[in-house]
Amino acid sequence: YVIGVDLGTSAVKSLLVNRSGDVTASVSKSLSVQQPAAGHSEQNPDEWVEQTKASIQALLEETGIKAEEVESLSFSGQMHGLVLLDENGRPLRPAILWNDTRTSEQCETIRRTIGENELIEATQNTVLEGFTLPKMLWVQENEPEVWSRAASFLLPKDYVRYRLTGSMQMELSDAAGTLLLDVKGKTWSRTMQEGFNISASFCPPLIESHESAGTLTKEAAVQTGLHEGVNVIAGGADNACGALGSGITEPGEGLLSIGTSGVLLVPDHGEAVPDGRLHYFNHASKDQYYYMGVTLSAGNSLQWVKDNLFFDETIEQLVERASQVPAGADHLLFTPFLTGERTPYMDAGIRGSFIGLDIRHTRGHIVRAVMEGITYSLKESHEIILQQGFQIDSLVSIGGGAKSSFWLQMQADAFGCPVRKLAHEQGPGLGAAMLAAYGTGWFATLEECKKTFVKEGETFNPDPDQSLIYEQSFQAYKKIYAQTSPLKR
Ligand code: XUL
Repeated sequence: YVIGVDLGTSAVKSLLVNRSGDVTASVSKSLSVQQPAAGHSEQNPDEWVEQTKASIQALLEETGIKAEEVESLSFSGQMHGLVLLDENGRPLRPAILWNDTRTSEQCETIRRTIGENELIEATQNTVLEGFTLPKMLWVQENEPEVWSRAASFLLPKDYVRYRLTGSMQMELSDAAGTLLLDVKGKTWSRTMQEGFNISASFCPPLIESHESAGTLTKEAAVQTGLHEGVNVIAGGADNACGALGSGITEPGEGLLSIGTSGVLLVPDHGEAVPDGRLHYFNHASKDQYYYMGVTLSAGNSLQWVKDNLFFDETIEQLVERASQVPAGADHLLFTPFLTGERTPYMDAGIRGSFIGLDIRHTRGHIVRAVMEGITYSLKESHEIILQQGFQIDSLVSIGGGAKSSFWLQMQADAFGCPVRKLAHEQGPGLGAAMLAAYGTGWFATLEECKKTFVKEGETFNPDPDQSLIYEQSFQAYKKIYAQTSPLKR
C-alpha cells in the first residue's frame, strides 16, 4: 500500500491505496481556522501535524493492515501559507493562510520595488494578497521582534513532512506560489531575495514532487503506527495533485475544479510566455508546468445562497429547481465576487451582484444564475488560456461542481467542449498517493502510474444550441465587473 495525505484548510484526509490504484479506506480529521481580525486567516501548524498523525493512525486501525504493508507516503497541501520557523525549526507564530487578505499594502510595496514586468520576469507571476512573500513583508513591518528571530520558512505540507522526517525541504510545485521562486528556472530568485531582505539561507533546499525526503523519525513512527523505514515522498501543491489525480498532465486537457473556490488549470511543457494574468506554477510531474485561473468564491457562492436565502432546502433540491429553468436563467445574472476576485480581475475589493431581477423570477432562477455565474467566472480564465494560444480538447471536472449531471452538462455547454468526470473521484489525495507510488518505484513513469490509478467516468458533450444561449449571457456577464467596480467600498 501507499498513503496519500491531503492537507486542506478545513480537514486533513488520508487515503490508503493499493497497487491497482483502488482506494481501500480514507480518514478525515478536521482542522480549525482562526480569524483574529478582519481579513486575517490563520492556523496552528502543530494542529496539522497532530491531525495528520491521527488520520494515518486511524487508517491503519480501521483497516487492520500491518505497518510493514505500507511502503510509502506522500502529500498534497493547501498552498501559499507562511510557516515562520526559529533556528530550532519551531513555529514562531500561527501560519498565515492562502485566503488571508491582510497584505494589500505589502503587495503594492512589492509592485513598486520590483516593477510589474521585472516581477513576471523573475517569478513568472504577479503579486497577490494570498502569496507567501507579501505575508513575510507584513511580519517584517508589523511584528519585527518575531521577524528578528525567524531563521527559515516552510509551506503547510512541507512543515508536516519536516516534522515527520526531521529533514527540512521545500517542494517545487508549492514553492512556485511563494513569489520567491524562478518557476521556469526551478531555483530561488536572487532578484526577489535581494529585493526584500530574504537571505539565501532563509529559503530551504528545493526538492521535486516525486523525490524521497527521507524516512520517518522514531517518534513519528510510534505516533502514526507506520514503520520507520516508510519512504516519505515530497508531494505537491493541492491543485497540482488535483490535476495529477485526474490524469491532467499533458497540454490539450484541462482541469475544472469547483470546490469552495474554483480553478481552471492547463498543463504546459514550458513553452508558455506568462504575462501575469494567470498563475504559472510548476506541475507535480517533472519539468511540466501549468497555467491556472482562480475564482475565489465558487461553490462557496452556492453555499452562501443556501445558507442565507434558501436554508429550508438542500443543495440537491435547489439544483433540481435550477434545472427546471431555461439556460440563461431568463436574463438573471450573478457575479460570484463575494470575497473579491482573482482571475481575471485581481481585485480583493470587488463584491458580487445579481443583475436583472424580475418579478417572475423564482428560487430556481436565482440558483441557476448563481451556478451560471460561477461557471462564467471560470470561463473567463478559459478565455485567457485560449488567447495564450492553448488548445483545450476536453476538461475533467472535479469537486462539488462534478456532483450533478445537470451542472456538468452546463459546464460542457458553456465552455463549448466535452467535460469528463472521474469514476471514483478522490480529489488531490489521489495525486499524492500517485506520487508516493511512483516515487517509491512501483512504476517506471508517472504516465504508467496514471494509467493504473486514474479511472475515467462519464463524458458530457456540448449542445450547440445551448452553447449559443450561454455565449450571449456570458457576453452580458463580462460587462458587470466594470459597471459594479465604482460601487466598491
Ligand atoms: C491556489 C490557492 C488555493 C489553495 C487552496 O493559488 O490559493 O487553491 O491552494 O487550498
